[in-house]
This record gives sequence, structure tokens and C-alpha cells, in this order.
Amino acid sequence: MSSDQRFFDFLKDRIGLDVASVGAAIIERAVRQRTTASKALSADEYWQTLQGSRDEQQALIEAVIVPETWFFRYPESFATLAKLASKRLTEINHMRALRILSLPCSTGEEPYSIAMALLDAGLKPHQFKVKGMDVSPLSVEKARRAVYGKNSFRGQDIAFRERYFSAEDDGYKLSERVLEQVRLQVANLLDPTLLANEPPYDFVFCRNLLIYFDQPTQQQVFEVLKRLTHVDGVLFIGPAEGSLLGRLGMRSIGIAQSFAFSRQSLAEPEPLPPTVLPTPLQTPLPARQPLRSATPPPRSRPFAAVVPLTNSTKTPNSDAATLLASIAALANEGKSTEARAACELYLRSHEPVAQVFYWLGLLSDVAGRALEAQGFYRKALYLEPQHPDALMHLAALLQSQGDTAGARRLQERAARSERAADSERKR
Ligand SMILES: C[S@@+](CC[C@H](N)C(=O)[O-])C[C@H]1O[C@@H](n2cnc3c(N)ncnc32)[C@H](O)[C@@H]1O
Repeated sequence: MSSDQRFFDFLKDRIGLDVASVGAAIIERAVRQRTTASKALSADEYWQTLQGSRDEQQALIEAVIVPETWFFRYPESFATLAKLASKRLTEINHMRALRILSLPCSTGEEPYSIAMALLDAGLKPHQFKVKGMDVSPLSVEKARRAVYGKNSFRGQDIAFRERYFSAEDDGYKLSERVLEQVRLQVANLLDPTLLANEPPYDFVFCRNLLIYFDQPTQQQVFEVLKRLTHVDGVLFIGPAEGSLLGRLGMRSIGIAQSFAFSRQSLAEPEPLPPTVLPTPLQTPLPARQPLRSATPPPRSRPFAAVVPLTNSTKTPNSDAATLLASIAALANEGKSTEARAACELYLRSHEPVAQVFYWLGLLSDVAGRALEAQGFYRKALYLEPQHPDALMHLAALLQSQGDTAGARRLQERAARSERAADSERKR
């Protein structure tokens, strides 16, 4: 009953969410939650409530979105931005402030990271302005409050916290000088009038949203992003979204791990000064995660309880659990080579497990080796046919290659296994 197409259509229409990309189970769960919360007795009754209440419509959207984000996610992109920003200021003869857009900005970590990166690079406050937009009023409200818990600070290098935050009872409060650089607003990327009368932006960040849209919606949104990005500007996207942009004639600017694209083809990007050449290990793995999953399997939260791997690659007798935790830690810190070495060490010294093949898949995936990634994900699924993350990532990979039917089959498999896990938990 709850897998009612009406709800899928509603979410698709409102925020572009494609049921095939996230799986029906996630939307069904959100509908169940809201049905209960609004005291409706049936899906039909909830549907009526939904039709008559804008608040309820927003509540359903809030229940289904994932605000997952953190400061300096994909650090190389911020290093690249800092260098490109200085260059761009010269190009425009310092005649105006740089215009930068972060959409979706979720709870603010992305636009504030942009501001911190530019202040760190020596830009003066009057030289740039950042706009952060998101469809979720709750997230925008949190962004405005700008008090963050430890989940917003991931990875090893969190020295910026000392420079830009002060500790308070309920978290770390962002300093005024960063707050002043950022304007926040609720907005929907699908709104045809979005920023219609605004001049284009020098830099646009649109990361970890496009993967949840079907192809026609992606196409529509890319046209909007193109319009919003200055002809000499740069668009930053999520690691899983590059193959989509290629189809629209946008080209990578050629800086590894920055996931940055320009509108024109820059066949030979100007070499950047040595200090900005990318360090290929600095990029955390992409979060090609489904929208909210109420009870995610523990392994899909690789950021929790990680144990540092000291000399791991030289320790053949490492115990399996420690080694697995270390692989997660290395991969999430963007240390791809070390993470891969730890996976290989694991496979040499222990029985093969799905999780290690899953990590290898993800490492290949983020390095842009799609075929190799597919092979690893399939090995993971051979060992553990319902491995949720391998199912999800392989589905996203197939989807990005245009194999919608294959992606859908995997999504359905993931949804079935999630339903089974759900009813197991209820017993
Ligand atoms: C995973 S977060 C990405 C945040 C940030 N860009 C990052 O990569 O860390 C996805 C965000 O997309 C927002 N979102 C979903 N649909 C949207 C839409 N149609 N328009 C604007 N924001 C949307 C959600 O509210 C959520 O905050």
C-alpha cells in the first residue's frame, strides 16, 4: 500500500528524487513515518493530508533527504578553488567580488568551507561572496545557526577548527568573519525561476545531488547549472557525477580529485603553480549513498570508530577486524594507495570477505576506473549477495553508464534486502 506511485511521483515532481536511484524502500519508510506522525490511518488518508498541507509536504521532503555533509569534503577541490579564485580575480582586474554558489549547501559545511579556503588563501572579505542554497528549510536553519558537532569535522586535518571556531556547550561555533561571507537561502534546484535575474557565478558547487535524479531531470538541471556558471567559470561536482557532465559537453579542467568542470573545452589546462598540484591521496571517497536510511548497516558508516593503521602494510599478522577498520580509515582520509595496499594485505593474509572487495571497488571507482570497480563490486556480491553498499554503488555505476535496467534490478535487490532486515529487526 505504501509503495504507492503517488508518493514517488510527488517527490520526483517536487525535488527531482528518482525512486530508481534510491530504491523504493527508502521512500516507503519516509511515507510510513509521516503517516504515523500525522496520525493518518491509511496511505489514502495521508495522501489527502499531504495534498492540503504545505507543512506536511515539507515534512515529507525533510524525511527523505539526506543532509550528509562535512567541512572540506573532497579537500582537493577547495585547494583548486583557492588557486582558481586568485587567477579569476586577476582576469576580472579585481573589478568586482567573485560570485560563488553552493547548491545544495545542506547544513552549511560546504559554503563555509569555501569561505575558509578563500580566506586562508589570502583573499580579502570584499573580494568574494558565497551564496548557499538548499531545498530544506531545516538544513538552512542549522546552517544559519552555524554550530557544529564532531561529525562535521572528518579527516585528519582539522586545524581550521582552531582558526575559525570557538568551542561552546553544544558544539563548535563558526566565527563571524566566515559567517559574513556567506548568504543562505532556501531554494529548489528544480525551480525554473531559480536565480533568474542574477548574473552568473564564477564558481558553482553542485555536489552529491545529481546522482539522485533520473536522466531527463539531470539534463534539465545541467542546463540550469550551465546558465548559472559564468562562461569562464568552473562547476564543481561530486566524484560520482563526472560521467554525467561529459555527456553535456562540459570538460574536466584536468586537476585530479578536484571534480571541477569548465563550460568550454580546456584541452590543455594551464599548469597551476607547484603548490596547488593535486596530492592524489587527499580525497575522501565519494558518498554515493542513498538518501536517508533509518538504520544503515554498520559497514556503511565507515567514518565511525576507525582505528589508525600504523605500519599496517608491513604487518602481515594484523588481526582481520583491525585491518578492516584501518582500510576504512585510510580510504576515508583519501589515502587511496595505502588503503588499496591494506586491502591486498588483507586478501593475502585472510579469507576473502565481501567488505574488502567493496572497498577495492570504491577505490577503483573514485580513481575513475569504472570497469575495474564493477569487477570488484561483483566479487563482493558473489561473496555476499545482499551487501547493501556494493549493491548501491554498482547500481549507481551502471546508472551512470546508461544501464538503467541493470541499475534498477540492483536497486530492487537492495530494497528487498532492506525490507527483510527491517522485518528482522521488528521481531
Ligand atoms: C548529500 S547533501 C549534499 C551537500 C553538499 N553539497 C555536499 O556535497 O556535502 C544533499 C542535499 O541536497 C538537498 N536537495 C535535495 N533535493 C534538492 C533540490 N531539488 N534542490 C535543492 N536542494 C536539494 C538536500 O536537502 C540535501 O541537503
